[in-house]
Amino acid sequence: MCGIVGYIGDQNATEVILNGLHRLEYRGYDSAGIAVLENGSIALRRDVGKLNRLAELLKNSPIAGNVGIGHTRWATHGVPSERNAHPHLGNTGKVVVVHNGIVENFIALKAELLSEGAVFRSDTDTETIVLLVEKFLAEGMDLISAACATLKLLQGAHGVVLFSIDEPDKIITARMGNAGGVVIGIGEGETFIASDIPAILEHTRKMVFLETHQMAVVTKKGVDVMDLDGNPVDYTVSSVAWDPVSAEKGEYRHFMQKEIHEQVRSLTDTLAGRADFERGDIYLQELNLTREKAEAIGKIFITACGTAAHAGMVGKYLIEHLAKIPVEVEIASEFRYRDPIIAENSVVLAISQSGETADTLAAMTLGKEQGATLWSIVNAIGSQAMRISDGSISMQTGPEIGVASTKAFTAPLVDLYMLAIVLADAKGLLSSETKQTLITDLAKIPGLVGECLLREKDVEEVSKKIMNAENALYLGRGIQMPIAYEGALKLKEISYIHAEGYPAGEMKHGPIALLDDDLPVVAICPQDRWHDKMISQIEQAKARGAYVIAVAEDGDEKVALLADDVLWVPHTSWLLMPVLTVIPLQILAYQIAALRGLDVDQPRNLAKSVTVE
Ligand code: G6P
Repeated sequence: MCGIVGYIGDQNATEVILNGLHRLEYRGYDSAGIAVLENGSIALRRDVGKLNRLAELLKNSPIAGNVGIGHTRWATHGVPSERNAHPHLGNTGKVVVVHNGIVENFIALKAELLSEGAVFRSDTDTETIVLLVEKFLAEGMDLISAACATLKLLQGAHGVVLFSIDEPDKIITARMGNAGGVVIGIGEGETFIASDIPAILEHTRKMVFLETHQMAVVTKKGVDVMDLDGNPVDYTVSSVAWDPVSAEKGEYRHFMQKEIHEQVRSLTDTLAGRADFERGDIYLQELNLTREKAEAIGKIFITACGTAAHAGMVGKYLIEHLAKIPVEVEIASEFRYRDPIIAENSVVLAISQSGETADTLAAMTLGKEQGATLWSIVNAIGSQAMRISDGSISMQTGPEIGVASTKAFTAPLVDLYMLAIVLADAKGLLSSETKQTLITDLAKIPGLVGECLLREKDVEEVSKKIMNAENALYLGRGIQMPIAYEGALKLKEISYIHAEGYPAGEMKHGPIALLDDDLPVVAICPQDRWHDKMISQIEQAKARGAYVIAVAEDGDEKVALLADDVLWVPHTSWLLMPVLTVIPLQILAYQIAALRGLDVDQPRNLAKSVTVE
């Protein structure tokens, strides 16, 4: 989970930055580095591992200056190593950059830069950014124009900070989408930059938060905010409370809202070190999976509670479709008390944000007793579920504070997708083209989630219309059926509106009796193999006067004509579509609860981690 700190002022930037990076330590990282402007050139120190290694390096080989940037890296492109650690210097040695996010079109940009003679010294996508800036500087642009031109070429979500020795009075930073935030702290004759408030909170409470597609020119005297064409943009200076909890909440009203927005970043981190887009491969090291083991698996039982169980239901579609291994999904509190037939070649796969849910742990124990291999997908590192597993995938979402789970839902969806690819590949079921396509689709997911988040305002209109409803029905089919369950769960958990998720084909066997013009029906209807079936469900609901809100794929004219409101999502493959369709549903539930003035982060009667039966 990458962290960024930058400084310009009269203090020694190295110290300010190192302290700031220490405050972001809890997020996890595999390497770190600092670059400062020292006597007219850029001095750089980087190392793999913990920050104290970098601190030690800086003690033995100090660097000092009044302008600098630093970074803690969680590897995405390229293994954790000194050469892949940020900051990255360009070929001229004059420009240096740190970056959060994935340059989705990195392969094409790199090929172009290589053909123009640029030299790459790391395996990172980030290096394309600094090389592009240098290219535009060489064409005669100033630093601001070169940064604008570069940022406009990047696909995906990014937080970027850079400076050049030729314009030593400024640092440039930008935010595109939601690969973590960019916050600028205004001091007296000094200015700070960070990906997260705690990194700079000891210095100032006056903060400017960049919105997406904004760039800031940061000097000792303060900040100028502009769009990516360099046009000035109005901004507000917020005063942030000192208490660490509200500091963590940052620019958001509730943790749930923050966590919804963090999904670009958490999904980027989920891919980090596992999906190698250049080689077209997936590595799930902590799973300890061999080819023999993959071939021998007879059945997978996925067991979990609540939101995690809904992720598991999507996993069934992914694994059965790609790896052709039968999957049973069962709520842990049921699984533990029946007599499941678990052969020795079975895997029991538990999914849990906390890794401490009592029923899930008991279900795992049952699996173990019956000789199954135990796997887990867990967020809380070192939790019981992770400890007792034979193999695990850690979610990499960072702490989730809002009781209603959001980022700990989308991360396991992506983990399960990667697992399905790894299993299918180990069994020899994927042609190299199919594998490449699956992995290329995956690379785009954080960016597409970012696009869904940019449509938050559209969801707001719908939220206002249904905020006073007493009931709601969510319908989905196939791989979207669990998303109907999850959308309904989100709404009931935090807004206290009774909501039911239903397989759309079952509507006529019961819920149809509920339909009238007071009942909002949320129909999840992307253009997958169940699309036509969903269209006819929408028609049936409309015929009975229901108010239909569809979640549909951009450009779907059939749905646009039929539904009363549409929450649009961009295109992706049907296998990854649940990661996108759930986003407007999370936002819808959040906004309705917020509009009703409820305690979104701590809804009544619910607990984040249920360690009792
Ligand atoms: C509680 C939480 C849910 C969560 C479920 C399972 O009910 O409120 O958000 O999905 O427990 O928790 P776990 O930690 O096992 O994912």
